[in-house]
Amino acid sequence: MTVIQLIEQATQALTKQPLYFGHGTDSAEQEARWLVLGALGLDWETAAAELEQAVDAAAETTVQAILEKRVETRQPAAYLLGECWFAGLPFNVDERVIVPRSPFAELILNKFKPWLSEPPKRVLDLCCGSGCMGIAAAMAFPEAQVDIIDLSPDALDVARSNIERHQLQGRVRAIESDLFAHAEGTYDLILSNPPYVPQWEYDALPAEYHREPEMSLVAGEDGLDLVIPMMLQAPNYLNEGGRVFIEVGNTDEYLANCFPEVPFEWIEFSNGGSGVYTLSCEQLVAHKNDFSDDSLSDLVEGL
Ligand SMILES: C[S@@+](CC[C@H](N)C(=O)[O-])C[C@H]1O[C@@H](n2cnc3c(N)ncnc32)[C@H](O)[C@@H]1O
Repeated sequence: MTVIQLIEQATQALTKQPLYFGHGTDSAEQEARWLVLGALGLDWETAAAELEQAVDAAAETTVQAILEKRVETRQPAAYLLGECWFAGLPFNVDERVIVPRSPFAELILNKFKPWLSEPPKRVLDLCCGSGCMGIAAAMAFPEAQVDIIDLSPDALDVARSNIERHQLQGRVRAIESDLFAHAEGTYDLILSNPPYVPQWEYDALPAEYHREPEMSLVAGEDGLDLVIPMMLQAPNYLNEGGRVFIEVGNTDEYLANCFPEVPFEWIEFSNGGSGVYTLSCEQLVAHKNDFSDDSLSDLVEGL
C-alpha cells in the first residue's frame, strides 16, 4: 500500500467512528493525514511524489495501531503523536496540557498589530499550558523577555520542555503561580487563554475534551472564575500603555452582557476563531469597580 492509500483508508475508518475533530484538525480527512504521516515520521507538507511511495508491512501495522488507539481512547491525535503545531512552531504536548488551538496564533504572528505601537519588552503568558503562546510571542518579539505562568506543575514541566526545544532558556521563564501571585514586576503585554468553560458546558463536551486536564478548561459555573480576578489584578502588573489580550471563547457574549459598560474590543480573525478581546491598562483601571461590584463578590472573594 502507498502512503496516500493508507491516508484514504484511515479517512474512511475514522469517518465511520463517533469521533470529534477539533483539537488541531477539523475533519476525519485531516486527522487521518496527520495520524498517518505522524506515525510514519513524515511531515504534514510531505511532497505528493513521496505520498505515492509504497510502505512496508511494519509501517502499516504502526499506522493501524495508532488509529485503533485514537478510536478506543478518544485521545486527540496530538497526544498520540506527542506533538502539535502552533503559530508555525512545533510543541511537545501530552495529557498534562491542552492541545494548542487558540486563534491567538494569528494575533501573535501579526505581532498584535494594530494595537502595539512598538515591540513589547516584557510579555506575560498567563495560564500558559504547553507554553505555546508565550514561546510564539518570544519568537515574534526577539528582544522581549517572556514570563509564562501556570498553576499546574505538570503543565509547567511540558512548558519547560518546549522552552528547551526552542532554545529560549535565556528569554522565557516558567513560573508556578496562581494567576499573578508569583508574577514579578510589570509587563507591556499580557496574553491569556485561561480556563473559561462553564461546568455545565464542559459536562456535555465530546470525550476528546475529557482527555484534557479539567483544570485547563473549567472555570466555575459561568466560566468567569479566572477571567474576572485576572482583569481586576492586571493593572498592577501592566506598564502604562500596556494591554491585556484575553480569550474567553464561547463565553464572550455572556461576559459582554455581564459588563455592558466595559469597552471590550473583540478581535476579528482572518483564519477563523473568535472570543478574544483586548483592553488597555487605562480601560481596566477605569472599570475596576465594575469587576469588583458587590453582585460579583462571590467571584472575587479572596482577592
Ligand atoms: C486553556 S489552558 C491554556 C493553555 C495555553 N495557553 C494554550 O493556549 O494552549 C489553561 C491553563 O490554565 C492553567 N490554570 C488553571 N487555573 C490557573 C490558575 N489559577 N493560575 C494559573 N494557571 C491556571 C491550567 O493549568 C491550563 O494549563
